[in-house]
Amino acid sequence: MLWKIALILIILWAIYSRWTRRRMIALTSKVLTMKSPALPFIGHSYIFLGTDEDRMNVFKRAGKEAIKNGGLISHWRGSQLFIVVADPVAAEFLLKTCLEKDAAIDFFKALLGNGSIFAPVPIWRPRRKMVAPTFSQKNLNSFIQEFSAQSQIMVKQLKSVAGNGVFSIWKYIAAYSMDSACKTSLGIDVDAQLQPEQPFLHSFDNCCRIDALRACQPWLHNDKMFKLLNPESYEQYTSSKKYMWNFMDKIISSKLEVLKKENIVYTSDEVPKASLRSFLEMLIESGGEGKLNALELREEMLVLVLAASDTSAAGAAYTTLMLAKHPDVQEKVYQELREVFGDSDRPVTAEDLPRLKYLDAVLRETLRLYPPVPVIVRHVHKDVTLPSGVTLVEGCGLLINFWAIHRNPKYWGEDAEQFRPERFIDTPLTHPAAFMPFSHGPRACIGYQYAMMSMKTALASLLRVYRVGEEGTTEGELRVKFDVMMKHVDNFQVALHLRTYYLVLFTILAPYKSLIPF
Ligand code: HEM
Ligand SMILES: *[C@@H]1O[C@H](CO)[C@@H](O)[C@H](O)[C@H]1NC(C)=O
Repeated sequence: MLWKIALILIILWAIYSRWTRRRMIALTSKVLTMKSPALPFIGHSYIFLGTDEDRMNVFKRAGKEAIKNGGLISHWRGSQLFIVVADPVAAEFLLKTCLEKDAAIDFFKALLGNGSIFAPVPIWRPRRKMVAPTFSQKNLNSFIQEFSAQSQIMVKQLKSVAGNGVFSIWKYIAAYSMDSACKTSLGIDVDAQLQPEQPFLHSFDNCCRIDALRACQPWLHNDKMFKLLNPESYEQYTSSKKYMWNFMDKIISSKLEVLKKENIVYTSDEVPKASLRSFLEMLIESGGEGKLNALELREEMLVLVLAASDTSAAGAAYTTLMLAKHPDVQEKVYQELREVFGDSDRPVTAEDLPRLKYLDAVLRETLRLYPPVPVIVRHVHKDVTLPSGVTLVEGCGLLINFWAIHRNPKYWGEDAEQFRPERFIDTPLTHPAAFMPFSHGPRACIGYQYAMMSMKTALASLLRVYRVGEEGTTEGELRVKFDVMMKHVDNFQVALHLRTYYLVLFTILAPYKSLIPF
């Protein structure tokens, strides 16, 4: 008897579910679903099970299938249809029309609240307007001094591991990025490079690690389910979050206090040259309507630190791996550095960066093949008709697949999988959205220039002093994995060697340790 009722209920549910999804189901005749079968209730979600490396492989496979299928492919995430986009024409259009993020990543809001990166459009828009002017070229140029000083510390820290074979360079570059991000955003020294056990960092790492875990296990997205199924991680997440919130709130309230007391409102020409003005100070001082309150400031500061640190670190770390694999490219980068800096070990300045054109191409080529953010999600909030004529229906999710767009042979030619920095020098892009590691359109990364400057400064400082060795490099593609970002499976293992010039310098100066520049 009971099973009969159960059967009837299931049939009724199936009918209801098909009926509510009828428009999405109809769409799959134009945008085919992936080859794996869709299961009842969960759809294709099961294909994302497995290790972080398996997960990245699913994104790669989805991208390949999409390219074969004219740029689009779909899969069911439960009862929601997700469209994978691997074509720059469709992607450019969608990134301009669909600004809303999909609820699939709502769990990030536990830490970031309504911070602009994942906020709904009505909250995001005025905040973006407030934050954007602080990213002016002039302000960014004023940060280079800081990038340069922090990268000198990194170079110094690396001395103990140089010449000692293969090691993971990740924590050195990540700490550089974190120190630079905290100094430029908040105006404080967290000294990640010198004190890796610092509690802010520890909390930050906890939150990132647990968010990565949740990102890939959809049944943990709901807060109550997460608490129930994984109470230990939940507890750790909650306390780390609390620590970070308090930490931010303290900095913000003391800055508000100081600025209120001094009552200085700098006009842009009379900013004191020597001292660095952080994003936080600039946001507090930029008055007028829409001024952010203390809670909003905390949310935006967390977004900046989170969005700026590991992403740029991954970009710079992938670049060191590519240079290890391509000694001829590294030699060219080094010759360019010699042209700009000569024998001098002076710090990198804002004037140097535009002159490092080949290094710039190497970075771009690395970000093309190994974009630190390989996919992003958006939400179709109302029907949109693509330039190709296909209409995506309201409620669909979008997975814009940068990995696949960057390797789409239609836009990159038959050697798309090859590392060839010259392609960014010889030939203009075949489509403005064929290369977009920082996304595209009104909601693209606000820190694009900042990131390029920070990574270039770090690499220029590093590569003037060290050669990245070929030890430990492997033939073919790097193995990569996906948590919230794309990272290297072997954790960015490289070997460093002091350049001959510095080797000689150190040998001569050995008796006079205090004269050694780092
Ligand atoms: C190599 C380094 C970086 C990469 C690959 C990267 C990539 C991205 C991507 C793909 C997005 C999502 C855009 C979208 O949904 O369309 C994004 C958003 C964002 N990024 Fe970056 N980013 C990097 C560095 C930075 C830095 C250094 C900062 C700040 C200093 C930053 C701040 C932001 C912010 C605030 C957003 C949200 C923008 C909005 O929704 O209005 N990012 N980034
Ligand atoms: C975001 O803002 C809305 C409207 O002010 C509010 O209802 C909501 O609780 C906020 N969300 C988070 C996660 O703070």
